[in-house]
Amino acid sequence: MIVLAYFCLLMDQLIEQIEQYKKEINQFTNGDVKAVENFRIKWLGTKGVVKNLMGEMRNVPVDRKKEFGQILNDFKILVENKFEELKKATSDQQPKTSARIDLSLPGDALPLGSRHPVSLMRNRIVSIFQRLGFALAEGPEIEDDWHNFTALNMPEFHPARDMQDTFYVQQNPDWLLRTHTSNVQIREMEKGKLPIRGIYPGRVYRNETVSARSHCFFHQVEGLYIDENVSFADLKQTLYFFVKEMYGTDVKVRFRPSFFPFTEPSAEMDISCTLCKGAGCSVCKHTGWLEILGCGMVHPNVLQNCSIDPNKYTGFAFGMGIERPALLKYGINDIRLFSENDVRFLRQFTSAI
Ligand code: PHE
Repeated sequence: MIVLAYFCLLMDQLIEQIEQYKKEINQFTNGDVKAVENFRIKWLGTKGVVKNLMGEMRNVPVDRKKEFGQILNDFKILVENKFEELKKATSDQQPKTSARIDLSLPGDALPLGSRHPVSLMRNRIVSIFQRLGFALAEGPEIEDDWHNFTALNMPEFHPARDMQDTFYVQQNPDWLLRTHTSNVQIREMEKGKLPIRGIYPGRVYRNETVSARSHCFFHQVEGLYIDENVSFADLKQTLYFFVKEMYGTDVKVRFRPSFFPFTEPSAEMDISCTLCKGAGCSVCKHTGWLEILGCGMVHPNVLQNCSIDPNKYTGFAFGMGIERPALLKYGINDIRLFSENDVRFLRQFTSAI
């Protein structure tokens, strides 16, 4: 009797769960992944309703097992089918990652920067001299008086210092912003390793009013060659080669006597105007010539200041601005554009020199 009463209880339970299931499934909101998982746990999980009722099978009297088992099994199949259906409904709603990626599509283009026109010009100048065996070196922009002036044969109160109006550093009266890249000459010579054949690009500063033509900072490239028997002819041949490589074979070159305290003799080198081919235009101020660089034979005092014997060694040096040739090459009419960092300006220079 007791067995039968327990069976009735189990049967009631089974029917009740089926009713409960029907009620819940009616209120089920489709497409909710979490809800589907909760559904699985509640009805089909290891501690779920169906498994529990299955476990009760052993308490069912033998002659009722078939009946109970049939109903329970039908219920199980019903729930399992429903679960598969719900699962499919949610996965249909989920974006299918594999379908979203089209491997044949071109990738997103990375925005590429472009080189600054001053860098392009510097690299171009430097590489011409590198091909002649000049080694690249750099020096500090904040320099002491010795390397920028005194060692270059410009002692204190020397009037030649007026040529280069200077910014000084407040903390130390001996420090200044270098007015030319000639400080690197001194630093390289002081290293005491001869011969020297070097090319020294860098930024320089002068206390000048900023305008379309001049700026308080700009860039130079300095060249230096020290060895036994270096002559002015070597200087000229080196610079002829440079002009040929840089401006082409049809450009004329002339040297004009000049003065720099650190070279003797000194010269300035002009090339025939690249725009009007020497006929005269506003760029060359109707002279037909463009001033390109200063140069000369390194002054014996400078060699001595760097502990190099001027009776044994001679050398030449030259220095040129980078902005001017860049203005000419790219047809830019305002030097200030170089330092304004306007990307619309900068993006135009993509040529790889
Ligand atoms: N330093 C000089 C200037 O800034 C250029 C120069 C360099 C001249 C080397 C002669 C030799 O004007």
